[in-house]
Amino acid sequence: MAEKHFKYVILGGGVAAGYAAREFAKQGINKGELAIISKEAVAPYERPALSKGYLFPQGAARLPGFHTCVGSGGERLLPEWYDEKGIELILSTEIVKADLSSKSLTSAAGATFTYDILIIATGSSVIKLTDFGVQGADANNILYLREIDDADKLVAAIQAKKDGKAVIVGGGYIGLELSAVLRLNNLDVTMVYPEPWCMPRLFTAGIAAFYEGYYANKGVEIVKGTVAVGFESDTNGDVTAVKLKDGRVLDADIVVVGVGGRPLTSLFKGQLAEEKGGIKTDAFFQTSVPGVYAVGDVATFPMKLYGDLRRVEHVDHARKSAEQAVKAIKASEEGKSVEEYDYLPYFYSRSFDLAWQFYGDNVGDTVLFGDDDPASAKPKFGSYWIKDGKIFGAFLEGGSADENNAIAKVARVQPAVSDLNVLTQEGLQFAAKI
Ligand code: FDA
Ligand code: NAD
Repeated sequence: MAEKHFKYVILGGGVAAGYAAREFAKQGINKGELAIISKEAVAPYERPALSKGYLFPQGAARLPGFHTCVGSGGERLLPEWYDEKGIELILSTEIVKADLSSKSLTSAAGATFTYDILIIATGSSVIKLTDFGVQGADANNILYLREIDDADKLVAAIQAKKDGKAVIVGGGYIGLELSAVLRLNNLDVTMVYPEPWCMPRLFTAGIAAFYEGYYANKGVEIVKGTVAVGFESDTNGDVTAVKLKDGRVLDADIVVVGVGGRPLTSLFKGQLAEEKGGIKTDAFFQTSVPGVYAVGDVATFPMKLYGDLRRVEHVDHARKSAEQAVKAIKASEEGKSVEEYDYLPYFYSRSFDLAWQFYGDNVGDTVLFGDDDPASAKPKFGSYWIKDGKIFGAFLEGGSADENNAIAKVARVQPAVSDLNVLTQEGLQFAAKI
């Protein structure tokens, strides 16, 4: 099969790829220099839409509506945009072998692509229950969500099982966003997760109590402290029930599993330095191999603000790391340099009428402030995380744009606090003064 050469190749066609392409165009590239190789069949899009607007019962989001870079208020890059810029979109093409010494990538169909500079933007894959050998986990209608094809399967299942029963396995981001949107589709929803409260990676018990109360008021049943150990299915192979470790059995027409992701680094095993499960990079997202960069979910990069190495699985970092890598690549071609990446972690989620934002690091003691009554008409509450007498992290539910900016500033500036009671009293007022 023919071999194709590009000066720059972006491997992966997700969020980071779209933002990297825009940055390449901004910096200036010649036609034919850049290719994006993606196993998805569509141009880069804003992945967060898949667990939110894409699944709405009315007015659902569909492509081309949410191609990158609309998610951050930028230009929407349609397939025609890539054509105009001379950027080749090589879609429905899975790379199955990467050889960094010969700078070549091989697709499942046997095509070879060579490059001068490679940006790895392969993102994450979902962890499946079949990976742990959970009995019956390969039944029909046990679904996962990562790519647009998965979302289409969910849409079809929601339509086929109208007003049926859904069980959501996992109490993280996917668990909370999917149980909400399936409830909006009028399914009878039960969430199951092993921890004492939802989203334990980020939420304190106090924060989680609000969301659990709110979801319960919306009719979502929550089963904590246990896991799915098996599934029953009918003669068609369709799932009918979820068996829990505590002996309970839940009827189910649809099961959605969100038990975490894994960065897709396996193509590069043994060829690049790794750290914390990701590909180790410097502050410009260059890996241990010169000319090879890694961005988005797969990169383990120096977090300047905290003096350690981290991997971040969120969209804001996917966008910014991609832009940083391209700026660094273009600057180095001119013998120039760019500033080190200085990232302030930013995570968010939306479900039902709720929207929260978090900035910084969730370490140390916490205070909870504001109206966190799940039954309030317009709840607005937050938390600060305090370590060594300084605020490191800030969370806010129901904030305005200005209020969210204020908590972001607090997490960046890390102001000193002497009295946690005063901080609790002041709440959002404290952030407004910074
Ligand atoms: P991303 O996953 O976007 O893209 C990877 C691309 O590489 C895909 O196109 C994939 O097909 C391709 N690929 C992988 N291996 C390949 C191979 N071997 N050959 C060819 N192509 C290959 N974050 C947030 O902050 N707020 C939010 O609300 C959400 N919501 C959300 C919803 C859902 C459903 C998911 C799955 C994720 C989120 N996230 C999120 C997380 C966020 O979307 C995620 O961190 C970014 O998409 C990461 O961007 P990347 O470009 O690194 O990977
Ligand atoms: P997650 O890590 O957020 O949550 C996984 C949850 O599953 C945890 O509560 C965990 O304890 C639980 N769990 C683990 N094993 C289990 C088991 N056997 N049975 C039941 N529960 C189990 O991962 P996710 O929600 O699957 O999300 C996948 C990826 O997508 C992550 O990278 C996430 O950051 C990203 N994502 C982000 C957003 C957002 O930022 N708003 C939204 C959706 C997805």
